[in-house]
Amino acid sequence: MQELRGFVAWIVVIFTTFTAFTTHASPTSLQSSNTKYMVCYYGSWAVYRPGRGKFDVENIDPQICTHLIYGFVGLSPSNEILVLDPYNDEEENWGRGAMKRFVNLKSQNPGLKALVAIGGWNEGSEKYSKMAMDPAKRRTFINSVIPFLQKHGFDGLDLDWEYPANREGSHPDDKQNFVHLVRELRQEFDKYGYLLTAAVSAGEFTIRTAYDIPALARDFDFINIMAYDMHGAWETFTGHHAPLKANPNIDFEDNLLLNLRHAVNFWMEQGAPANKLVLGMGTYGRGFTLDNSAVNGLYAPARQICERFVAEPGQWTVVQDLYYEAPYAYKDRNWVGYDNVDSMKRKAEFALELGLAGGMVWSLETDDFTGHCYGEPFILIKTIARTLNGGVIPTPPPPPPTTTTTPDPNASTTTTTTPAPPPPDGVCRFEGFNRDPEAGPCATTFYWCLSNGSGGWTIYPRTCAPGTAFHEDIQACTHPELVPGC
Ligand SMILES: *[C@@H]1O[C@H](CO)[C@@H](O)[C@H](O)[C@H]1NC(C)=O
Ligand SMILES: *[C@@H]1O[C@H](CO)[C@@H](O)[C@H](O)[C@H]1NC(C)=O
Repeated sequence: MQELRGFVAWIVVIFTTFTAFTTHASPTSLQSSNTKYMVCYYGSWAVYRPGRGKFDVENIDPQICTHLIYGFVGLSPSNEILVLDPYNDEEENWGRGAMKRFVNLKSQNPGLKALVAIGGWNEGSEKYSKMAMDPAKRRTFINSVIPFLQKHGFDGLDLDWEYPANREGSHPDDKQNFVHLVRELRQEFDKYGYLLTAAVSAGEFTIRTAYDIPALARDFDFINIMAYDMHGAWETFTGHHAPLKANPNIDFEDNLLLNLRHAVNFWMEQGAPANKLVLGMGTYGRGFTLDNSAVNGLYAPARQICERFVAEPGQWTVVQDLYYEAPYAYKDRNWVGYDNVDSMKRKAEFALELGLAGGMVWSLETDDFTGHCYGEPFILIKTIARTLNGGVIPTPPPPPPTTTTTPDPNASTTTTTTPAPPPPDGVCRFEGFNRDPEAGPCATTFYWCLSNGSGGWTIYPRTCAPGTAFHEDIQACTHPELVPGC
């Protein structure tokens, strides 16, 4: 068996060496060194979490990732890139300046790249579809992106359109229009050396209809495959959301396709070179309530899952599926599929075996970022980064010497104090996600309420993923049975 593994590894080395010579790398590609990418998304709204879950820019460890991606910005009605939360994201009007502080993390790690992601599940598809189908609107969008990146100091843009030609308001031509959009962005970005990346689906049916893979692989610096959320509460059966391989004993038909191996192989078979693909992993679990017992958090950060195991010793049965190579755990009617240190290591090894560009995680703030639970902060991300790079996280050059500045004696008079949130109105009662007051206890709609900086609210309507309902206490969509009164 060891010999066979050695043989397989040898073939992989030959193959990747060969592709390195034959594929044309764009000038901005970083794949020149042997360092594997560790791409880390940050859900910037985690700053609104209550208590110990609160996660601000300063909670990010700038030494463990090669690329940080700030989520999310949106698309305005006039087809320009749009800051969704000006108070948190920007500095103007006494804002919290999170984007600037995010980009400034690069001063602690000179190799670090900071990108901004546009889109995400809640932005939907319709706006992007309409923009991409019109050459003039694409131009407007691209012309807004360049000054935005310059103003904020980002190194590039991550396109997270979920998903072309899929979801409500999409158009069948999105697949081709997405190619035009990416081509035109690439041409413009090359003038500035900006990185252009994407987060893409891992589902074969979505991939077939959404992506012209050879064209996208040519123009993106790298492509993050979201190889998670493959099963969830929208289904009527339990399923691990990120299995490595199908289990032929229990997976049939479409479910044979919902695993990391199939997703990555499909992207490669359809024309994406391995060295442009980044394997996405989730630092959280997806849970279910079984038909015959109690309750469990869904979409729970790794820390929360672990905290329950610690708080309820001996009560959880953990099962390691031989094919999924990832654990699930159950207690009474609680069932959760998740990733631990061993399964993350295995996934990162799989990315290495295939010669991929590296690994990606959603997200920094769902890992055990305090080390409260597993003893080491960001243990899942660090496990991936170490596995990808021969056991060590590549150490960046030492930070530049800090210039000591004379403290300003008047500094205390210039520090900005956090303004009080606006008074409640009919929709917004506090900053963060507010239940839709019209929708009853099982709401699938809610509102993201943000201070507009001058005494009023900026309100974004939001919709839960299918099969889930909004739970205000945990500030997330979850299984309807877990929502009080639902
Ligand atoms: C501090 O404030 C005083 C009074 O307004 C002013 O005279 C002085 O120049 C200020 N010092 C600095 C360093 O800004
Ligand atoms: C903020 O909201 C207040 C109250 O609704 C409104 O008067 C004001 O014009 C808004 N400011 C901005 C910048 O939108």
